[in-house]
Amino acid sequence: MALPSETFLRAGSRCKRLLLTATLLASVAADELFLYPENLNRVLGTSIRWRVYGAPTGDVNFTWYRGNGSIEANMLVSYTSSPPSWIPGPVNTGRENVTEQGYLTITELEFGDTGDYTAVVASTEGSQEATGQIQVWEKLFQPNITVSTASVVEYVDIVNFTCQPNNTSDLQIQWYLNYFPVSQGYQWALSSDNRTLSGWVSRSQNGPYYCEVSNPATSQRSTFQNLQIYYGPDFIDMNSIPLLHLGTIKAKLGSSINIYCQTVSQPACLYQWLLNGTALATTNSTLSIRSMSWEDVGTYRCIAENPKTQLILYSTVTLKVYEPSLPILKPPYAISQRMVVFLSIGVSLILLSLIGTFIFHLLS
Ligand SMILES: *[C@@H]1O[C@H](CO)[C@@H](O)[C@H](O)[C@H]1NC(C)=O
Ligand SMILES: *[C@@H]1O[C@H](CO)[C@@H](O)[C@H](O)[C@H]1NC(C)=O
Ligand SMILES: *[C@@H]1O[C@H](CO)[C@@H](O)[C@H](O)[C@H]1NC(C)=O
Ligand SMILES: *[C@@H]1O[C@H](CO)[C@@H](O)[C@H](O)[C@H]1NC(C)=O
Ligand SMILES: *[C@@H]1O[C@H](CO)[C@@H](O)[C@H](O)[C@H]1NC(C)=O
Ligand SMILES: *[C@@H]1O[C@H](CO)[C@@H](O)[C@H](O)[C@H]1NC(C)=O
Ligand SMILES: *[C@@H]1O[C@H](CO)[C@@H](O)[C@H](O)[C@H]1NC(C)=O
Repeated sequence: MALPSETFLRAGSRCKRLLLTATLLASVAADELFLYPENLNRVLGTSIRWRVYGAPTGDVNFTWYRGNGSIEANMLVSYTSSPPSWIPGPVNTGRENVTEQGYLTITELEFGDTGDYTAVVASTEGSQEATGQIQVWEKLFQPNITVSTASVVEYVDIVNFTCQPNNTSDLQIQWYLNYFPVSQGYQWALSSDNRTLSGWVSRSQNGPYYCEVSNPATSQRSTFQNLQIYYGPDFIDMNSIPLLHLGTIKAKLGSSINIYCQTVSQPACLYQWLLNGTALATTNSTLSIRSMSWEDVGTYRCIAENPKTQLILYSTVTLKVYEPSLPILKPPYAISQRMVVFLSIGVSLILLSLIGTFIFHLLS
């Protein structure tokens, strides 16, 4: 029983295929004929062993043809099971053969091997054929990656990566950052052929960057490229010993003082200190005063500058001499002013009432 088996191969015709299978099952009951070669993508120069799925076993003949269809003139090779014998066809180049399981083998693949192949399986139950396709692809070499600049300022500088494949055939290029695919978006722009990737970066995106060239049969990735990213300072944090409070440090005369200026940046900031607007010699992030004197009193400003991002931040503290507040001595028996007023009013009222009573008695 012959079947239009090429429908088995067509994607999108699943319903039709199921219907055909059902019809087939109904008609041939026990021995289900099913042949299903897949499409193959292979690299030039390699060998293939093309399996067929669902072929019957036992007394079976396998014949392979070039192209879509079983035309005698396009026969590659045929295997007859009883007795086992192999017959090369007219288009056999000496590189094609078939195994006892019906698998087509081709050695040293050439671009010319690209195309359709048809397998015909003949058993006592009938014969069936199926067509599949071989695509031979160029072997890919490692692409060359180049970068426009090795160091960039975060969010400011634009960096361009270029991927140069050492192949001329059809291929796809994909970019990766930290092993994750990079796609066109608000941060990155890609050229139409994906060879150039350009965009800005943030501090954590130092790499590795690489590109990968691929075709359906193989892929190759470039070497890793890393970036030096400059950023900060984002803020400046001032601290001291003794502790500063509301921007003021109070220290005893003769005591030692450390004022710390902290920033997060790449590269580390350069520091400058001013006392009342006059530059001091210190260029560290910490300003130390060995022994506090009246000459050290004043307003200290720490200026931090990132030489690469050219961002400058400053912060200010005031250094004062610590003066212990004197205890206020109070007399032991004191009456408050309020109490005095209160008592005076009370006494006056008593006196007034006494006078009133006296006048009342006089009149009566
Ligand atoms: C083979 O040819 C037939 C008829 O020309 C066509 O319907 C079918 O889709 C082809 N199959 C393949 C795999 O190209
Ligand atoms: C195919 O393989 C069989 C068994 O390995 C061998 O006897 C035969 O000569 C081969 N035919 C061709 C055309 O290479
Ligand atoms: C296989 O091929 C041989 C030689 O052509 C033929 O005699 C035999 O009947 C075939 N077997 C089947 C199952 O088709
Ligand atoms: C990669 O490209 C650069 C710039 O075009 C070139 O100088 C370098 O030699 C290339 N490297 C390789 C391995 O081709
Ligand atoms: C490019 O590929 C050829 C082989 O075709 C190889 O000889 C050459 O070294 C490769 N060049 C680079 C830059 O990888
Ligand atoms: C370019 O890259 C995108 C993914 O970022 C990919 O979908 C597309 O197929 C690629 N195009 C080429 C020509 O490599
Ligand atoms: C800094 O200015 C303050 C307030 O004007 C002043 O008291 C202090 O003496 C000055 N310090 C120096 C070292 O000029």
